[in-house]
Amino acid sequence: MRVVLILAAVLAATPALAQTPAKAPPAPHPGAEIYQNVCQACHMANAGGGEGAGRIPALAKNGALAAATYPILVVTGGKGAMPWFRGSLTDTQIADVINYVRSNFGNRYKDKVTAAMVAEQGIAAPRGGMGER
Ligand code: HEC
Repeated sequence: MRVVLILAAVLAATPALAQTPAKAPPAPHPGAEIYQNVCQACHMANAGGGEGAGRIPALAKNGALAAATYPILVVTGGKGAMPWFRGSLTDTQIADVINYVRSNFGNRYKDKVTAAMVAEQGIAAPRGGMGER
């Protein structure tokens, strides 16, 4: 309770924090941060892929992303050296990051992946896997 009161006092004392900023820069795509935190380590900042422990495919200008189901299967279920993310990312986060990749890096796919599609089409996280961290 005390924390709430202190927080309220701080917010009241700093009007900039109390208001939702009206002139904030355009919100970044919700998938951008996920890409940077999770995918970029392997697929690179420019999504160009590369050679690491194995070949990492470019996601930039990637025709394999045309059908949304394919990235849903890869990201939920993993593929080859790529780990699966079902369980460590929510279905919404998975949808967001797929939408981000499919609409950036030279990809111009207009249809959107939804969390419901990830739930329906995705592969369940294997038991005892990364998702159980
Ligand atoms: C640990 C490294 C690693 C991470 C992290 C990773 N990937 Fe991958 N990814 C790979 C590798 C390796 C492949 C190739 C798998 C194969 O075909 O055997 C791949 C393949 C893919 C493919 C299929 C590409 C194609 O042309 O077939 C997609 C889509 C993809 N990754 C998306 C993502 C997204 C989105 C993320 C973040 C949520 C991500 N990856 C995180 C290593 C990674």
